[in-house]
Amino acid sequence: MRLNSPQINLLTRACMKASKSLIRDFGEIENLQVSSKAPGDFVSSADKRTEKIIVEELLKAHPEYGIITEESGIINKSNVNNRWIIDPIDGTMNFLNGIPQFAISIGYEENNEIKCGIIFNPVMNEMFLAEKGNGAYLNNSRIRVSNKKKIKDALIVTGGPKQVSKIKEKIFREYINVSNQVSNVRKFGSAALDIAYVACGRFDGYWQRELNYWDIAAGLIILKEAGGFVDFFEEERNYPLKKNILASNSHIHDELKELIIKKDIE
Ligand code: IPD
Ligand code: CA
Ligand code: CA
Repeated sequence: MRLNSPQINLLTRACMKASKSLIRDFGEIENLQVSSKAPGDFVSSADKRTEKIIVEELLKAHPEYGIITEESGIINKSNVNNRWIIDPIDGTMNFLNGIPQFAISIGYEENNEIKCGIIFNPVMNEMFLAEKGNGAYLNNSRIRVSNKKKIKDALIVTGGPKQVSKIKEKIFREYINVSNQVSNVRKFGSAALDIAYVACGRFDGYWQRELNYWDIAAGLIILKEAGGFVDFFEEERNYPLKKNILASNSHIHDELKELIIKKDIE
């Protein structure tokens, strides 16, 4: 690993500490307390425990930094210049069903720009890390996006719609449009890992509506540092934490965007 700035070391330490408890919880999911935040949207005692450990570690190092978390909201609201963006388990549904496709995701934002990020799948022992200007890594190896140039050869990943979505039909239409033009489409259930997989070339592109900032904050810098391109579309001005994202190896970006945006108008 060639990334060793203080922020990266802190992120790695917080993540490793939290992942020990997360792995223990994954070994006994039947004993976890689970409650529902909305239809089809669950939170478990593992999400809360993991988040608590991460927040404690980060606050110990920088008590004045702002923190946006999925489960406990915003901490140190007045500091908007230095913020951690935390999703303690991205892929909770997978986690609760014993499927090892989930990750801890933490991004560090400075003056509205993500500067570094970590996405860690503790079961696969895969740690994606990146820092602005210093590249993206999977464990000890530098990663790059795929080199695929033709949309018809591309393997694309997506997610959603949520059970409560009001635009399900639109999302299903997009799914059909894209499926008809690419090699294939996958749905793996963790937005953070979906982006990380584009960053390391496993997928060529990813799009999804109705995400939250914490699902993708760390992924933004990991993908960019791996040579990929990220775009947001149809942003909702009043909800800056809500995101519709299109992320790709950059070569297929415009074609993929056209498949999504164009059909939208019809
Ligand atoms: C979810 C995952 C999933 C995506 C959902 C997210 P969570 O996050 O990223 O892939 O389709 O929209 O809410 O709830 O597991 O942290
Ligand atoms: Ca999430
Ligand atoms: Ca989560």
